[in-house]
Amino acid sequence: LQALAERARPGFRIGAAVALGPLASDAEYAREFVGNFGALTPENAMKPQFLSPQRGVYTFEEADAILATAESKGMTVHGHTIAFTEAMPRWMQELPTGSAKDRRASADALLDYLTTVVTHFRGRLASLDVVNEPFDLDQGTSLQENVWYRTFGPGYPAIVSRAVHDADPDVRQFINENGADVPGERQDALLDLARDTNARGGHIDGVGLQSHVYDLETDAISAEDLADTLDLFDEAGLHVRISENDVTDDQGTDDQAEQYATVLATCLDSPTCVSYTTWGVDDRYDWWVDDDGSAQQGHDFLFDEGHPTPAYKAMTRAL
Ligand code: XIL
Repeated sequence: LQALAERARPGFRIGAAVALGPLASDAEYAREFVGNFGALTPENAMKPQFLSPQRGVYTFEEADAILATAESKGMTVHGHTIAFTEAMPRWMQELPTGSAKDRRASADALLDYLTTVVTHFRGRLASLDVVNEPFDLDQGTSLQENVWYRTFGPGYPAIVSRAVHDADPDVRQFINENGADVPGERQDALLDLARDTNARGGHIDGVGLQSHVYDLETDAISAEDLADTLDLFDEAGLHVRISENDVTDDQGTDDQAEQYATVLATCLDSPTCVSYTTWGVDDRYDWWVDDDGSAQQGHDFLFDEGHPTPAYKAMTRAL
């Protein structure tokens, strides 16, 4: 895929989210991944809960091993993520913020974490989600009141962005969100947040549109809607990454394949859309737990047990 993308639009990167486990132990997965992608996002290894399970303790080994693979194969790396409500270790979530004195102490702890991490990876990340999923779940448009918010107030993304810039001035900064891939209130809120962050001295280069399509009937992304979306961010001088595209489907149908191809082709067509990343590689590692507690295997990705899926083939035709 990367070779086709490079021909279609020189410099354009197609990436995938990866985990160290299969990358290190499954030669077929490693071949599928290395043979097709020019960029990677560590799926979990750079989340705060994994990088700093206890306060002052840092576990960089897994992320470093993933980055070493990327570096040895000439892939660019997208870092994921600094401020993310859902992926904080307990010590971070529970920092007291009740009094001004508490907030000074939690500010020190949070910024110490941020600076340690960004300094550790400095020079190795092309881009970084400085804030991930800022808004209330299920289509909300208000900021989640996580420990960053409680410590710094509603302007916290600018504090995060400036501190990241101080530690690594070259990394491209993104705010990443779900449910903002098509026009609507949530998308407007994301645009406002990016602008407001930069008005407060932040260094946001653009937004990540996760583009998870969990239900083709209700949340398919049309070419028209995505093109309008890219125009909107373009007018604001912001870049867009398609950051986590995957399309849930029980069977691996043609509709799924077409949805993958539509998102990729529309991104490729617009200079505002600087990269495309899919959130997985092979269905072999695609499991979820259903409402009744039973584990299910999905047919969501571009490979299934080592074989390219219809979605993969549709992507190659879109390039
Ligand atoms: C998901 C990973 O894919 C899972 O392995 C993990 O158990 C939970 O997180 N939006 C994001 C990603 O920004 O960090 C999430 O990743 C998927 C939704």
